[in-house]
Amino acid sequence: MPIHTTDRGWVLETRTTGYAFGLNQAGLLTHRYWGARLPDPADYPAAPNPAGWASFNNPAQLTAEEYPGYDDIKFIDPCLKVSFADGVRDVVLRFESAELRELDIPELLINLRDTMYPFRVTLHYRVHEAYDLIERWVTATNHGETPITLERIWSAQWHLPLGGEYRMTHLHGRWLDEMHLRSEPLAPGRKVIESRRLTSSHHHNPWFAADRGNADENAGDVWFGVLAWSGNWQICAEVTDFASTRISIGLNDWDFAWRLAPGEAFATPPSYAGYTAGGFGGASRRLHDFIRDTLLPHGHTLHKVLYNSWEATLFDVDEPSQIALVELAAEMGVELFVMDDGWFHGRDNDTAGLGDWWPDERKFPNGLAPLIERVNALGMEFGLWIEPEMVNPNSDLYRAHPDWVIHFPGRPRTTGRNQLILNFARADVQDHIIDRIDRLLAQQNIAFIKWDMNRNVSEPGWPSAPGDPREIWVRYVQGLYRVWGTLYERHPHVIWQSCSGGGGRADLGILHLADQIWVSDNTEPTARLAIQEGFSQIFPANTMEAWVTDMGAAEIPLEFRFHVSMCGSLGVGGHLVRWGAARREEAARWIALYKEIRHVVQFGDLYRLRSPQAQPFSAVQYVSKDHSEAVLFAFRTHLPPPAQLPPLYLRGLDPNDHYEVEGVAGARSGSAWMHAGLHVELLDFQSTVRRIKRV
Ligand code: GLA
Repeated sequence: MPIHTTDRGWVLETRTTGYAFGLNQAGLLTHRYWGARLPDPADYPAAPNPAGWASFNNPAQLTAEEYPGYDDIKFIDPCLKVSFADGVRDVVLRFESAELRELDIPELLINLRDTMYPFRVTLHYRVHEAYDLIERWVTATNHGETPITLERIWSAQWHLPLGGEYRMTHLHGRWLDEMHLRSEPLAPGRKVIESRRLTSSHHHNPWFAADRGNADENAGDVWFGVLAWSGNWQICAEVTDFASTRISIGLNDWDFAWRLAPGEAFATPPSYAGYTAGGFGGASRRLHDFIRDTLLPHGHTLHKVLYNSWEATLFDVDEPSQIALVELAAEMGVELFVMDDGWFHGRDNDTAGLGDWWPDERKFPNGLAPLIERVNALGMEFGLWIEPEMVNPNSDLYRAHPDWVIHFPGRPRTTGRNQLILNFARADVQDHIIDRIDRLLAQQNIAFIKWDMNRNVSEPGWPSAPGDPREIWVRYVQGLYRVWGTLYERHPHVIWQSCSGGGGRADLGILHLADQIWVSDNTEPTARLAIQEGFSQIFPANTMEAWVTDMGAAEIPLEFRFHVSMCGSLGVGGHLVRWGAARREEAARWIALYKEIRHVVQFGDLYRLRSPQAQPFSAVQYVSKDHSEAVLFAFRTHLPPPAQLPPLYLRGLDPNDHYEVEGVAGARSGSAWMHAGLHVELLDFQSTVRRIKRV
């Protein structure tokens, strides 16, 4: 059992890590330890009992509480802020009881209770032993007779060892330019990253990694964590003036309120966090395995090579144009044909149609069946693009239900890409969309859905809200999960892809439902290398849908473009009719090669050998779980001459076994490949893929 109760409190142990907390002498639930696993549960230090500092800072200000409420003479960022019906606005949480649940994934519940009001907060801890991850979330229950307003309720506060100087790494970006890695020292005060956009967003991702400024890809202490949530979120890293560094993570409290009626409970989304001495690569591999093994609906199903029509035909889809692409895609070895935007009622451009989810009668006079039958006859599966949360004012749905969108009464309704957002917080809206999309899936042989979301929120009003209208931020996402979850339950074989204008909804919340993420609308391959590196900090390669398109085609060879996309779940999105026979034949060869290596790419361990964000010569390697085979990709963008490429030091091989690397004569020990390295020769905008096999 990885959860121990001792006289000092509780110890949560994973394969290589330990996490401990307990009650200190003041009765506060206090953090004790997070780091390498110690030999004995008794080894973990006792909860500290800090003194205060003058009349301005009571002991509580200096205490690393596991879940601080707003109370006392204490100004560190609290996890919980509430208002009681009588106007009292602090919350004094004290330990009430603990409960251990010996389930497959063991769970510890710590009940805290306000000292004056019948209000209970339960801290949930689950131990994902094999992945070195601790999961935390919180439920708050109103046991009283009057409502309580929750104004902030975060999922966790993660404490780093006291006294350290830390650096935080996070991701930032924007549409067409997601997932830039950024590292910066944490200084006294607060560093906040967040989303207020209704989705997790292109701009920041609910992920952090903290180190002491000296970790690299392969080694060094890294503490990392995520929030599994697809709506507004916040990460606040705070360094106190008493050398304590804590990283809080949870629902964004901006414009947030939740009215907790008598007898009701509220549950936060979970945060998963871990520690590793194995550097940033070690942190990523833990998340990758966890996501693949436990979150994804089909985490161990090999993804098919897909074709997507968007960049080829845009909105000009119809039966003949798609069948022309279908025939060519099938010849190239594509296994899944996905028709993107433009197929549904009234959709000739982005000004109309969203909401009317049936085939456009002019473009598909006989419905989708003839197209799907042709796709299936050629041995491929069929997939479709939808954007269910959206509506164009120019649609039958909006004309029938103008009140169904998110809006403030009387205010203009600001459109983005000519569309408004359906209020998925409303049960009637959810039911309508479930019914529409369910019909589509029931009537057609559809194996794949790309679920898009192409704008962020404005005028976040909910005029008929039964509770506090500010609940919309959370209820919208709960509604989204309900709609998507119901459709998934009814059609469990469908593979879903999460897209929000590219990577605007890439988070562990959506990966309960979606198996893949459309990483970016930017398919230019050198930009994509950098975006893929950022993405890979969190997400495994099987979730990373990557197409070869016509972006960059004038300057960059097809081979390079394929190699970039072969680092994830390969797709093609170029205009195949215009490609010509020679290019299609070359593409067919790359697709055939990808089918030979994809089990290693999609399910293997990822090692980032050289960073494309930092260097024009970059490389990644994937190693099968049994270490018997690996795949290496190396890319050179632009280096001024004379350029000598440094050796690539392979990773993850068994040191004493011998391996052959494609293109190099003679087998060498894993140790030799890892320490003496491998030389590859590349000119500007050249790349290579090498299969590596144990002999
Ligand atoms: C978004 C997606 C694209 C494409 C278009 C269609 O931008 O990210 O891949 O599906 O919508 O309108």
